[in-house]
Amino acid sequence: MIEIKNIKKSFGDKTILEDISGVLETGKCNLIIGTSGSGKTVLTKCIVGLFKPDQGEICYDGKSMLDMDREERTNLRQQIGMLFQGSALFDSMTVEQNIVFTLDMFSNMSYRDKKKRVDEVLDKVELKGSNKKFPAEVSGGMKKRVGIARAIVLNPKYLFCDEPNSGLDPQTSLVIDKLIRDITNEYNITTVVVTHDMNSVMEIGDNILYLYQGRKEWEGSNKDIIFSKNEKLNEFIFASEFLKGAKEIRMLEVQGKIDEDHSIEDIENLLNDNK
Ligand SMILES: Nc1ncnc2c1ncn2[C@@H]1O[C@H](COP(=O)(O)OP(=O)(O)O)[C@@H](O)[C@H]1O
Ligand SMILES: [Mg+2]
Repeated sequence: MIEIKNIKKSFGDKTILEDISGVLETGKCNLIIGTSGSGKTVLTKCIVGLFKPDQGEICYDGKSMLDMDREERTNLRQQIGMLFQGSALFDSMTVEQNIVFTLDMFSNMSYRDKKKRVDEVLDKVELKGSNKKFPAEVSGGMKKRVGIARAIVLNPKYLFCDEPNSGLDPQTSLVIDKLIRDITNEYNITTVVVTHDMNSVMEIGDNILYLYQGRKEWEGSNKDIIFSKNEKLNEFIFASEFLKGAKEIRMLEVQGKIDEDHSIEDIENLLNDNK
């Protein structure tokens, strides 16, 4: 579990994060969502210790990062896996070399054990046998999987994915989302996904923090979203008129006010009554 307590961060005289608190739960996909520029990446960098917040603290399983000595911080770093925005693979290295690189940096494993571990994580992300391919030879979805394989190679307790679906089509995005969810459940880790993809929000949003202009505007689960009356959240998630209508119809369904016996006319009347 990661606790975020009253985080404030400014760059110069520009306040980016304004008093953000929240809990990122173990064994769950925790989503940080919001429009572009709302502060998602800055918050994530504060959480993993790449930025120092001006105020507030971050606690990993009850221990504040402020109270950690150098060794404890190094230990924590090794328990954090990161999938960077755009995958950030080395183009001149094969898939295998990209993953071995992390093992070289942070482990004392033998060459044979490293090879074995690479095969294990490639199997996990369903890329068995792609060891010798170069990033340029694989699809966008496969690059993300390599990025995920690299992020989990050290068995992290905490997994951070910044915009894992950027540049992917909706179906490939779903496959990546499901992979992230399966890994989270199987290893019971604390996963944090930064996204503005509304499909991901609905698919894997166990616990969601919604940022709006550097503040936490809303929190809840994907199941709460359908019923939320938060206008800013609804504007963000159900941006089009079509989706706004779909949300209203779903609410009426869940409330038992409509079923398949109702005509389109009945439904339109009900929607108008609700306005
Ligand atoms: N290193 C930095 N120095 C100054 N301003 C920054 C820096 N990083 C991000 N910002 C600003 O912080 C705001 C939030 O950025 P970011 O967290 O990247 O948004 P997003 O929600 O799209 O991830 C933006 O206005 C951005 O310009
Ligand atoms: Mg970002």
